[in-house]
Amino acid sequence: MRKTIWVLNGPNLNKLGGREPELYGSQTLAEIEQNCQHICTEADIHLEFRQTNHEGMLIDWIQEASTKAAGLIINAAAYTHSSIAICDALKLVKVPSVEVHLTNIYQREPFRHHSYISPCVNAVIAGFAGKGYTMAIRAIIELIR
Ligand code: DQA
Repeated sequence: MRKTIWVLNGPNLNKLGGREPELYGSQTLAEIEQNCQHICTEADIHLEFRQTNHEGMLIDWIQEASTKAAGLIINAAAYTHSSIAICDALKLVKVPSVEVHLTNIYQREPFRHHSYISPCVNAVIAGFAGKGYTMAIRAIIELIR
């Protein structure tokens, strides 16, 4: 059976492209997904790419990924800085996991400097805009090969 990499996106990331472009750039989430899809297709990996504005939905999806995914990438967006529940859910995930942020959260407002997600994943990529997602996909493919 083909392995699946799950990419989960949190609140407001559906607005990428038009949302604070000076920070997040002009790339839409659909374009980021396409780039991830391209790499996965070449590697014969299935991609499950999702976005939600709801914390509970992210938790349901992380729980689902914990039994189905070969690797997990998460940009929890603002929940990064507030959600102990997402951190707890991520502890269920036993496959390679990467936290991704478009921006370098450590260069931004102090309230973005703390991540509840980082202690619960294997790695963090922040500050490479949409390319951070494709870097994370390639890293996970290398690990699960
Ligand atoms: C973000 C950074 C978060 O602080 C912010 O709330 C987001 C996006 C990023 O990808 O840079 O929504 O996760």
